[in-house]
Amino acid sequence: MTDKDGLLQNAGINTRLSHLGNDPFDYHGFVNPPVVHASTVLFPTARAMEQRAQKYTYGTRGTPTTDALCEAIDALEGAAGTILVPSGLAAVTVPFLAFLSSGDHALVVDSVYGPTRHFCDTMLKRLGVSVEYYDPAIGAGIETLIKPNTRLVHTEAPGSNTFEMQDIPAIAAIAHKHGAIVTMDNTWATPVYFRPLDYGVDISIHAATKYPSGHSDILMGTVSANAKHWEQLHEANITLGICGAPDDAYQILRGLRTMGVRLERHYESALTIAKWLEGHEDVAAVLHPALPSFPGHELWKRDFKGASGIFSFVLKADGPAAFKPKAHAFLDALRIFGLGWSWGGFESLAVHVNLNDRRVTKAPTEGPVIRLQIGLEDVADIKLDIERGFAAARAV
Ligand SMILES: Cc1ncc(COP(=O)(O)O)c(C=O)c1O
Repeated sequence: MTDKDGLLQNAGINTRLSHLGNDPFDYHGFVNPPVVHASTVLFPTARAMEQRAQKYTYGTRGTPTTDALCEAIDALEGAAGTILVPSGLAAVTVPFLAFLSSGDHALVVDSVYGPTRHFCDTMLKRLGVSVEYYDPAIGAGIETLIKPNTRLVHTEAPGSNTFEMQDIPAIAAIAHKHGAIVTMDNTWATPVYFRPLDYGVDISIHAATKYPSGHSDILMGTVSANAKHWEQLHEANITLGICGAPDDAYQILRGLRTMGVRLERHYESALTIAKWLEGHEDVAAVLHPALPSFPGHELWKRDFKGASGIFSFVLKADGPAAFKPKAHAFLDALRIFGLGWSWGGFESLAVHVNLNDRRVTKAPTEGPVIRLQIGLEDVADIKLDIERGFAAARAV
């Protein structure tokens, strides 16, 4: 079903997630779209081939399966167009390559996803783009960092691992005043809880690997653009030949159908656990934007409709020498939480966060930062597991 259908446009989010994308009656009434595997697409005549006079022309340029997902994401993001790429990281690097040229300057938030920073510090640098990192709390103060060649401002809110919020409308207004494009990694909130393009962002980036996939088994990224920037983004997608695979697109569309209800559970369980941790004797601080005690809480309340299932806490420790042994003891005692990268799946995960790459923001000094992805398990069992971790950390 397309979003143009008046019924869906005004429907609630779970109705939209259940029906956006494909129309079952485009393919004999089957509820889900067919997975069309393609490199070659045939043309009926030489003239049709010369003029590319048909909807599908080659596998890298889309199939009915990838289109179904792109249409659903367009509707969710309020975008003019969406491209699919093979990972969430590629969903950052492809728009950077699309909009930055040698000699340009880019401003990137200091709480950015680590591999995004690595791309900036290595490949972008080699291509002659200078990157400066800014304080996530900067807001309209970003104007002081704008240079005549500032072409792109990259935002991510909440920030990776430490969850700092950003004043997205204020940053977007300043960036636009100076002719810069605004990109946002919106993976944490998903378009269910925050729609970046409605707040002045030009390019919304999503690691669909996380909540849209929901099952820790698919890698995919989506990049959605407003009308002004869609053509250039699409052109870069075609030029680079970086595209999403139909099998993965099918699985992500399948994941979207249940994403709303999964997110509700992640939101509720994670916030319950965050509140419980806040009052816990072994915890120095909880970094979760939906907690009133969190410095960015007012921004979250103003702009976001909800929170997902990932946040961090600072485990109490006496001095930096104890940080790593305590963090490892905590993690090694966990039985329900897995120790693994990524998030957004059905299962709980925990990580000892490394903040050594920060240039502007400071890592907490009271103890190690532990990031928790709260899965769909029962809260009572998750709490018991965390208590196992605390007991082991106390014994160090
Ligand atoms: C905020 C954020 N953006 C992007 C990515 C990259 O996603 P992927 O693992 O699909 O490359 C991640 C992965 O952890 C992430 O946390």
